[in-house]
Amino acid sequence: MPSAAVPRAPTIPHAGPPLLADSPGPDSEWTRHQVAKLDDLAEGRLALFACGTPQGGLNGIVFRLNDYCYAYRSTCPHVASLPASPDGDSFALEGGNLVCRTHKAAFVPETGECLSGPCKGAWLQKLDIEVRKGAVHLLMA
Ligand code: FES
Repeated sequence: MPSAAVPRAPTIPHAGPPLLADSPGPDSEWTRHQVAKLDDLAEGRLALFACGTPQGGLNGIVFRLNDYCYAYRSTCPHVASLPASPDGDSFALEGGNLVCRTHKAAFVPETGECLSGPCKGAWLQKLDIEVRKGAVHLLMA
């Protein structure tokens, strides 16, 4: 039986920080953690990162898409207790969507909204990032 077609995510221009120029976030009391170098982020490929926070460890995914960068916690709203794959392949960019490989939920890459799958209508947790001096930094309040 053929699988149902997954709707393609709409393109949302200017939904993330610019990729090719610095896009400094707020200057105040935010803490910055470098999570990736732009040179290491190929278009359409995900990178996994982990960093410590005052609330504990945070695992995330970061990617560049159409000249913008995006980052999310690497937990799926369907089964958030499932651990992220250590090799970073829990999610993938497939057919214009960000797809959870466990049960094939498809999310809009630019917003994290689930379009189809077992958690349709739920959202990935988007992380605040900035691009500065050729690297992507996670912003923590
Ligand atoms: S854990 Fe992501 S779709 Fe089930």
